[in-house]
Amino acid sequence: MNPETDVATPTTGRASTAAERVRIFDTTLRDGEQAPGFSMDRHAKLRMAQQLEALGVDVLEAGFPQASPDDFAAVAEIARTLKNTTVCGLARCQNDDIDAAGRALEEAAHSRIHVFLSTSPLHREHKLGMSKAQVLDTAVAGVERARGRCHEVEFSAEDALRTEPEFLVEVFSAALEAGATTLNAPDTVGYTTPAEIVALFEYLRRHVRGAERAIFSSHCHDDLGMAVANSLAAVSAGARQVECTINGIGERAGNAALEEVVMALKVRAARFGVDTRLDTRKLYPTSRLLTQLTGQAVPRNKAIVGENAFAHEAGIHQHGMLKHPGTYEIMRPQDVGIAETRLVLGKHSGRAALGQRLQTLGHTPDAAAMDTIFARFKKLADKKCEIHDEDLEAIALGQDPDEAGPWHLLQLSSATHLGGSASASVKLAHDDGREVSEAAIGDGPVDAVLRAIERATGSELELTDFVVRAVSEGGDAQGHARLTARHHQRDWRGHGVSTDIVEATAQAALAIVNRIARQTPAPAPIVVAHL
Ligand code: KIV
Ligand code: ZN
Repeated sequence: MNPETDVATPTTGRASTAAERVRIFDTTLRDGEQAPGFSMDRHAKLRMAQQLEALGVDVLEAGFPQASPDDFAAVAEIARTLKNTTVCGLARCQNDDIDAAGRALEEAAHSRIHVFLSTSPLHREHKLGMSKAQVLDTAVAGVERARGRCHEVEFSAEDALRTEPEFLVEVFSAALEAGATTLNAPDTVGYTTPAEIVALFEYLRRHVRGAERAIFSSHCHDDLGMAVANSLAAVSAGARQVECTINGIGERAGNAALEEVVMALKVRAARFGVDTRLDTRKLYPTSRLLTQLTGQAVPRNKAIVGENAFAHEAGIHQHGMLKHPGTYEIMRPQDVGIAETRLVLGKHSGRAALGQRLQTLGHTPDAAAMDTIFARFKKLADKKCEIHDEDLEAIALGQDPDEAGPWHLLQLSSATHLGGSASASVKLAHDDGREVSEAAIGDGPVDAVLRAIERATGSELELTDFVVRAVSEGGDAQGHARLTARHHQRDWRGHGVSTDIVEATAQAALAIVNRIARQTPAPAPIVVAHL
């Protein structure tokens, strides 16, 4: 990108042109990665960087090279690898930081050094111990030093939203004159509101000397839950770069969630009059990749990428969705990379959704049979959170999916040993009269009980998903275990509820073994890998 020609223009509300593009600056690997619980090694960072390039982010902040040798190596490797995305390294306005960033970015096709310095009175006095004049001089010196070490320079006024606007104008004007092309006004502590950020960006664009040459950027934190709203407000006031992270990860409560910002700009394009270059169909895979690399799941109800984002359970909603998806969905799941809308069958579902699902599974009950099936379905739905296809098939065949054998759990015990290993033993009864006892050791009690059940039943469980969560609070909390195993290209789910999480897991595993056994009377071995 050439910063001299690819400059921002004021908001006009006109249809999208190249000048009306909002640049997406992804800081998942810097601001996101520095948050507790989200650290990634070099390989994970490179994998994530390649995915972000495929997604189409304009700038990727790969790390803070002076922070550690690992950070330096990760930035250098990403800089060497990416070809289209501008790779950015963070640096304080200090010579060592800037030089390290420059060296890390040496091989980048497109490089940016992001220098930052606090400008607010609180930070000037308590963090930096600097006067306004010293801040101004340090900012200019930082930008000038960075300029010769990369293709383009971004300057951030840390804690900008709590800085005197007149002083911010002075600092930004000086940084621009010194060679910065992007001016970032971070809401470092997540304190601002949409109306305030609009006022600030309008003020900056009116008063910064040379503002027409600059790209103004927002960087909002989510301490009051307004990071995305504030970022969008900044765009409506002329910001042409938004700094954000996948899944909204970042310091404390996180940064503005990239997927939310991008989809808001797309779904409400007529309102914002701007565009991004991103391939939004890659949003969900990118979010999933991050959760896999960090082991941190997003909440079920997370906008755009949460499990419930395109799931409908209420009967009235399902009925509407079957008639016209626009009734309850403002975007298509495919637009964010999710295969399809999910009509979740649970206690709130109605006959329309149940009938449609049964039809998909090859069952076309007449009205009387449907009455019976619906009554059984409601009874089961009262006991379980979610009804899956295998439950429905059992109901349609007149079985009670929870009570049907052939295997039944008679006894279970488990023990955890110092040093991490665990053992479990189970006693099972089979409908044909056999009683089988087996014991196994595993990495933990859950692993041990799964192995004991596999041995006792002669099955192997290739687990593809395993979720354990508390469904009530307190010392006698009920734990819910939900397991998914793959067998013959099909997912089989089982669930169990108990005050003992190991027992809940055993019930869930046995439910899967039983379902497969009922479906295939002489079961072929089920391939396995433990999670
Ligand atoms: O939140 C912040 O102020 C930052 C800066 C380094 C841009 O992350
Ligand atoms: Zn930040």
